[in-house]
Amino acid sequence: MKRLFFETIDSTNAYLKRNYQKLEDMTFVSASFQSEGRGRMGRTWMSEKEKNLTFSLLIKDPEVMREYAQMSVLSAFSIAEVLKDYGICDAAIKWPNDVYVKDAKICGILLEAVTVQEMECLIIGIGLNVNEERFSEDFLYKATSMKLLLQKEIDLEELKEAVYRRLADNIKKMKRGEDFHEKIAALDYLKGKKAFCSIDGQNRQIEVLGIDRDYSLKVLCEQEVRNLSSSEITFHI
Ligand code: BTN
Repeated sequence: MKRLFFETIDSTNAYLKRNYQKLEDMTFVSASFQSEGRGRMGRTWMSEKEKNLTFSLLIKDPEVMREYAQMSVLSAFSIAEVLKDYGICDAAIKWPNDVYVKDAKICGILLEAVTVQEMECLIIGIGLNVNEERFSEDFLYKATSMKLLLQKEIDLEELKEAVYRRLADNIKKMKRGEDFHEKIAALDYLKGKKAFCSIDGQNRQIEVLGIDRDYSLKVLCEQEVRNLSSSEITFHI
């Protein structure tokens, strides 16, 4: 596995999008600072220099790329597992790809695919709040960090290694056919919550039944059980 590090870069996801053709599967790119960090839904991802983990993993293995829907949830699960190892035991997966602790977001994941005629690669971009202590009030959500939760500074290099190892290990296990659903369902942040969401452009109230076996989100919407894929909804609790 190849690791690349940049002091400053526009975005680790954008770097992999530009360079995936000459890089090998499982290349891991991290940066101390991203000048144009990207979040989901076209938002920006702000992260203070040298305080947090911002990195992306390149997936070129077709077997793994096929599991696109599972990969976002599996990445969030891997982060939750690492947080547990650091003593943060109540990390939960907010489907499809955020990690929350005590109703505050600690990690965001941006999955992007490069498709020409078929999918060429999958890029898993992860922003994990580590040693940052102050978050903008303008965020759409409440944010937290490992330092705020553990009241101590975290070694970024050790954490980066732990995250990389866990992701690589879980991807290997998934390829061997291990079923993560039960473990993932146990960390389901949205289960049982009522939410407003926009489905197919219409605002609806839903009750979340939970992450389903195919990693879609099973919801009750106007008395009808529906399975939502991450691309079709945006929602607010
Ligand atoms: C979100 O919650 O909106 C997803 C945020 C993803 C941020 C990470 S940081 C590393 C990688 N590079 C980016 O530009 N974005 C992702």
